[in-house]
Amino acid sequence: MRKHRRNDGGHTGTTPPRDLPGGPELASRASALTKTFGVDDTRVTAVDAVDIGIERGRFTAVMGPSGSGKSTLMHCLAGLDSVTSGHIWVGDTEITALKDKDLTQLRRDKIGFIFQTFNLLPYLTAMENIVLPMSIAHRKPDQGWLDQVVATLEIGDRLRHRPSQMSGGQQQRVACARAFVGRPELIFADEPTGNLDSHAGAEVLGVLRRSVDELRQTVVMVTHDLVAASYADRVVFLGDGHIVDEMHTPTHERVLERMKRFDATTRTT
Ligand SMILES: Nc1ncnc2c1ncn2[C@@H]1O[C@H](COP(=O)(O)OP(=O)(O)OP(=O)(O)O)[C@@H](O)[C@H]1O
Ligand SMILES: [Mg+2]
Repeated sequence: MRKHRRNDGGHTGTTPPRDLPGGPELASRASALTKTFGVDDTRVTAVDAVDIGIERGRFTAVMGPSGSGKSTLMHCLAGLDSVTSGHIWVGDTEITALKDKDLTQLRRDKIGFIFQTFNLLPYLTAMENIVLPMSIAHRKPDQGWLDQVVATLEIGDRLRHRPSQMSGGQQQRVACARAFVGRPELIFADEPTGNLDSHAGAEVLGVLRRSVDELRQTVVMVTHDLVAASYADRVVFLGDGHIVDEMHTPTHERVLERMKRFDATTRTT
């Protein structure tokens, strides 16, 4: 098993404090977060009264069976989806209390997204896609940082290409560059390696890990992949809309053991 660089300095493995909205050590926090879809007999509670704190400057993975609410939780934390009840903070700002316009601005300024399906605009080049969120926010990318991101992700020879002219791995690296370029406070990634081969996936995971260790970024990643989860500092396990477990400094083997327990539960119910 390859070793990943990790920043464990001062970590005690205790649950983050929940009494303060935000707080210096929490980049994001949710309290009694519930999200339901549908009405009456089609009603589904995707996320059920979840309390969670996302530690600043750390890499958090979210795992759990299909349908356990991982994407829904992430979309709510990122302000991409409304909540049915409960409260969410990004830093000190309660995003569940924001008007749409303010929420859009906060997302633009403070949050980066990486999706399984890349979500690049097909009629823009790679470089135009990378800088688009910053252009919309009337912010100018730091050229040195942009160059560093492009070099790290090895997409320098693809910057004038459109998404249809790139492989999936290249498209995802462009999507990562787009998320990194504004140096957001929080990066959310939903199965970022789901459509990549193991080599391209390892590159993306290495970049996420380094963004935490070297740039003090905060990354939250939903994944099904045991190897991907082992890059994180902490894994939060979701089952049926609830947080059922968490693990600090995970290894591939320990995550596998924990996921097997979900399979056993599923088989007996
Ligand atoms: N837009 C929606 N409308 C209705 N139900 C939804 C919607 N989005 C999610 N759900 C339901 O909410 C539950 C949680 O879905 P979610 O997509 O969050 O799961 P997940 O853990 O991300 O699953 P996967 O691993 O398959 O991506 C599921 O039962 C799903 O069918
Ligand atoms: Mg999902």
